Amino acid sequence: MSEHAFSPEERAAVYRAIAERRDMRHFSGGEVPAEVLARLLEAAHHAPSVGLMQPWRFVRVSAPQLRESIHALVEAERVRTAEALGKRSDEFMRLKVEGIRDCAELLAVALMEGRDAHVFGRRTLPEMDMASVACAIQNLWLAARAEGLGLGWVSLFDPEALAALLDMPVGSKPVALLCLGPVEAFYEKPMLVQEGWAKPRPLSELLFENRWGIQGD
Ligand SMILES: Cc1cc2nc3c(=O)[nH]c(=O)nc-3n(C[C@H](O)[C@H](O)[C@H](O)COP(=O)(O)O)c2cc1C
Repeated sequence: MSEHAFSPEERAAVYRAIAERRDMRHFSGGEVPAEVLARLLEAAHHAPSVGLMQPWRFVRVSAPQLRESIHALVEAERVRTAEALGKRSDEFMRLKVEGIRDCAELLAVALMEGRDAHVFGRRTLPEMDMASVACAIQNLWLAARAEGLGLGWVSLFDPEALAALLDMPVGSKPVALLCLGPVEAFYEKPMLVQEGWAKPRPLSELLFENRWGIQGD
């Protein structure tokens, strides 16, 4: 064991947060205390980012009318997604895919404008800005689980329409609506597994050695 390792209890807590984090779409109302929200946003802001670009921007949605308008955008995209799914359309429409109206806090997360100026680590892989934002969201997600709060990542929206609603600058791009707040209980498994929509694959099928598709001993 490395001398830099956390204590056994601390390690267990980290792995527990990772294992018990769930994408939540059922919320029980209530609120997120201001100091807890501040801790969660700091956790997000501690994320790694390509070239230390810190491309994340957060918009806290506190106006009820704005939340309703956002819900309408998500609902419109939910219907379009169902249409695009063809024969699984009805099954998709029965899934709960967002908790925008029920969550205590709604946060929009976006990529900043002017990203082309950042070349370090992005010359061949410009999408590393998106990867950095995802790291920030994952930090927030894990910290929320440790705080006992649920979080759901909603990506069912027209980014241009959401950008317009949030008065975002040209070149920026919203990538997530985060529903955050108290929940009755955390799902034991991913909800899409519980509902029979998808089956997770084991790590052993996704881990190769030296050459793609070649599994080690
Ligand atoms: C980038 C990203 C976008 C997602 N968008 C949605 C979404 O729009 N609606 C939804 O219900 N879940 C969304 N999810 C949640 C996934 O469905 C969920 O993470 C997956 O089923 C595994 O479940 P778990 O997070 O509970 O382990 C998203 C997750 C990620 C990482």
